[in-house]
Amino acid sequence: MFSSRLNWHAGTNPIAQALARRVSPYLDLTQSNPTRAGIDYPVAGIVSGFGDARMLHYAPQAFGLPAAREQIAALHGVDPQRVVLTASSSEAYAWLFKLLADAGDCVLAPRPSYPLFEYLAALESVRVDYYPLHYDHGWFIDCAALEARITPRTRAVILVNPNNPTGSYVKRDELERLGAICRRHGLAIISDEVFADYAITEDERRVPTLAGFGDALTFCLNGLSKLAGLPQMKLGWMLAGGPDASEALHKLELIADTYLSVGAPVQFALAALLAARVPVQAQIRERLQRNMAALRAGIERAPGISLWPPEGGWYATLQVPRVRSEEQWTLDLIEKHGVLVQPGFYYDFEREAFLVVSLLTSPDIFDEGMERLVAAVHAAG
Ligand SMILES: Cc1ncc(COP(=O)(O)O)c(C=O)c1O
Repeated sequence: MFSSRLNWHAGTNPIAQALARRVSPYLDLTQSNPTRAGIDYPVAGIVSGFGDARMLHYAPQAFGLPAAREQIAALHGVDPQRVVLTASSSEAYAWLFKLLADAGDCVLAPRPSYPLFEYLAALESVRVDYYPLHYDHGWFIDCAALEARITPRTRAVILVNPNNPTGSYVKRDELERLGAICRRHGLAIISDEVFADYAITEDERRVPTLAGFGDALTFCLNGLSKLAGLPQMKLGWMLAGGPDASEALHKLELIADTYLSVGAPVQFALAALLAARVPVQAQIRERLQRNMAALRAGIERAPGISLWPPEGGWYATLQVPRVRSEEQWTLDLIEKHGVLVQPGFYYDFEREAFLVVSLLTSPDIFDEGMERLVAAVHAAG
């Protein structure tokens, strides 16, 4: 009776089971929900944005209301005709997979990266293949390996800029090579830029955005979820550009018109929500810097832990001794030390043992949690 798009019977993993068993509270170093991270939101400004009576009239528009699209276009310096509003960046992926791929076709995604791609693609009957990111004093894209993964069924390359959880940005020389590869093989680029405003360090070699990139059909994804720390508002967008963008938009219009998923209230409130992003981003940036400093200070005392420093984004990757598996590290930290981290295998790191922590975590929890993590590594010898 049911489809086989997903493995519906995967069950809960041992880490979720350990958390469910735990009766006493624990320190959550994985908090990536900004509305639960002690950020002070400009409440009055946000709420006042929802007072516009025009939202009571239903006037459907496939790509969203022109006024809302114009604001997003102004934010990114692009033509409003190139802006497509969606309910989230996850929905943007779903629409792009429908646009670019038939069932059984393939998209290339970075590894390690965000685990949701597997599900987003499977739900469209699309396969994901992976190209490697390697680390050598910094992360880089293995462009030769990426090109070697391309088959006649490959339709698009996903870039996550900066990537989750490595925090690495695409560099100019990498983009030049990727553009040439995509041109050679007729592939589109999907550039996920949801963390683009959260640089932790500066580097001239980075590509801050692919908006305006002309070498391949390109879709830049972003949304209020990370950009304004407002995931509950459910507003994302994509910017279409490069060769064939007009044809892509023409076809996307049919997809968007089939769903009409973006609500009117959030579109009328957009100016207030974009205004709110200024103080919200300032607090998040300060938090990222603060927790990075605490992390560096904490692991200075812990020779067993090394930091693979993020260039941007909300996460930090720690390498810990391979005296036990990532799963065992994570279970021990929950059960014996009352600390929750993410094991590297959630993101498909090339090898063990890595742990990922969220830099968005409230400082008191972060400091205490890091202290316990350092003590756990020390005790493991
Ligand atoms: C790289 C990346 N893209 C997209 C998303 C999801 O964003 P949205 O809430 O707009 O679907 C996330 C969420 O963590 C993410 O890490």
